[in-house]
Amino acid sequence: AYMFLNGKLIERTKGKIDVEDRGFQFGDGIYEVIAVYGGRPFALSDHLDRLFESAKKIYMEIPYSKKELEDGIHRLLHVDKREHCYIYIQVSRGISPRNHIIPQRISGTVIIYLLDPIREKENWKRRGIKAAITEDIRWLRCDIKTTSLLGNVLVKQKAVEKQASEAILHREQRVTEGSSSNVWIVKDGLLRTHPADQFILNGITRKQILAISKQQRIPYVEQSFTVDELLGADEVFITSTTMEVTPVVEVDEVKINEGKPGLLTKKLQWLLEREIQ
Ligand code: PDD
Repeated sequence: AYMFLNGKLIERTKGKIDVEDRGFQFGDGIYEVIAVYGGRPFALSDHLDRLFESAKKIYMEIPYSKKELEDGIHRLLHVDKREHCYIYIQVSRGISPRNHIIPQRISGTVIIYLLDPIREKENWKRRGIKAAITEDIRWLRCDIKTTSLLGNVLVKQKAVEKQASEAILHREQRVTEGSSSNVWIVKDGLLRTHPADQFILNGITRKQILAISKQQRIPYVEQSFTVDELLGADEVFITSTTMEVTPVVEVDEVKINEGKPGLLTKKLQWLLEREIQ
């Protein structure tokens, strides 16, 4: 397997990162996960735009243009041919003697490599998953796709301890998002998800589902909902690059839609799959 490291295509095992890379010491970096279907990256342009937006929000410059990153990704997919996988791209602030102050005039460390497909995905998409409600212990800039993911890791672990596949997070009873996904409910035919503010990541899949809903005249609102509204919903599902549209059929021992994927959830799942193909 190959990787891009600062513009060079090398064998992945040959990649070396300095111990004083700020990505390693401070989680001072940003990333994207992009799906590959049929050998082609899906929504690549949207993902790269978000990468540049994240960079801007943390006062970081990416040492390559969007076009150069696209070319790199296509070259990687050319040597590491795969039908289905995920592209992982990370840009850390770079190498500098350890100090919290953001160093000037250093160049970011850019890595790009391919992640394996998710084994359980098709099963989860078909049968639905169990989720656990957990307090959102993360910081107040969840709109930045940062590699500082300790908060996300800890809440995911809480879910795993409860035999659940995803943590659904809330701040003072208002549901924000999942530990690595956006969360949606359906109530009386109305689709609802948290607005894209500082409390959630503005998911690319979320954006696609909103566009599909608009096009299909499915009523929706970008409005937060409470934990009680989540538990009383007709349908619940999560969206992300890796999970696409995945039904949530149980939340903290409470069955949603009698433990079966909902009709609108399945419809949106199918409509998204149609775009992926
Ligand atoms: N996670 N919210 C959070 C906190 C996420 O980490 C993600 C994505 C999403 C969904 O965003 P998108 O639809 O653009 O993938 C929402 C990626 C896949 C990950 O960290 O693996």
